[in-house]
Amino acid sequence: MEYVRGDVMDNYEKFVSDLKQYLNIDLAGYKRQQMERRTNALMGTLGYKGNYNEFVRVMRTDKEIFNRFLNHMTINVSEFFRNPQQWEKLEKNILPSLLSESANLKIWSAGCSTGEEPYTLAMILAESFGFGKHTILATDFDNTVVAKASEGVYLKKEVQGTPEKYLHKYFDVQDDKYKVKDELKKNITFKNHNLLRDDFPVALDLIICRNVVIYFKEDAKSILYYNFHKALRRGGILFTGSTEQILQARSIGYSTADTFFYKKN
Ligand SMILES: C[S@@+](CC[C@H](N)C(=O)[O-])C[C@H]1O[C@@H](n2cnc3c(N)ncnc32)[C@H](O)[C@@H]1O
Repeated sequence: MEYVRGDVMDNYEKFVSDLKQYLNIDLAGYKRQQMERRTNALMGTLGYKGNYNEFVRVMRTDKEIFNRFLNHMTINVSEFFRNPQQWEKLEKNILPSLLSESANLKIWSAGCSTGEEPYTLAMILAESFGFGKHTILATDFDNTVVAKASEGVYLKKEVQGTPEKYLHKYFDVQDDKYKVKDELKKNITFKNHNLLRDDFPVALDLIICRNVVIYFKEDAKSILYYNFHKALRRGGILFTGSTEQILQARSIGYSTADTFFYKKN
């Protein structure tokens, strides 16, 4: 068992074990230091300082507290066109070459949070290459964000970063809210999926997984990059976050297509 040193669990290890047993949350793949710090900060805010047992007991009955915990731990900040230079590289260099190999792309936005990432991709595809019959699977293991993503309604401040011409074309504006148009949504399927537990799709042309693995332990990251490699078709691309270099890329079987774009050999 991951968190046991000798045969005695400390308080935090017991908390992790209780989370798994009673609330079906498995923190084993995540770095302890960050998770422990975030848990303690939230427990302090909610008045359970240091009392893991009580906190688990409350989360088992109080759905609202449980959801606060989930939201706090998953850090689901996202943005439309996050790191725009990277999206530009995708548009100018990566997509044309993928499209020359398959007309209808099969794409996965893994850890999509509230939907900004798959919608950004869908807008770029539509704008530069037409709507086509591409399929975009957009997943996250947090049901709250998956629900918001599939609703596709954002406040003005949340669509900041989206070029004006895209806002006009791909959103309906109602009462200061920006609603993604159905024609953009129709190729996207939103689903719950846990990257550390669930089966992966296969034969993908492109996987986008950005700013998700920051709190994963090194071994969990390696397994994930192996599994992404398996999920891609030969020549398919993995697009990672702007700080996320895959150190063992060559040994897994990726070559570099561009910075933060890895191609399956
Ligand atoms: C910081 S957001 C990144 C969103 C988007 N990819 C971006 O770059 O803007 C990280 C997301 O990863 C999700 N996540 C964390 N661990 C996960 C796991 N094991 N399986 C699936 N999603 C996970 C979180 O719920 C969160 O929504």
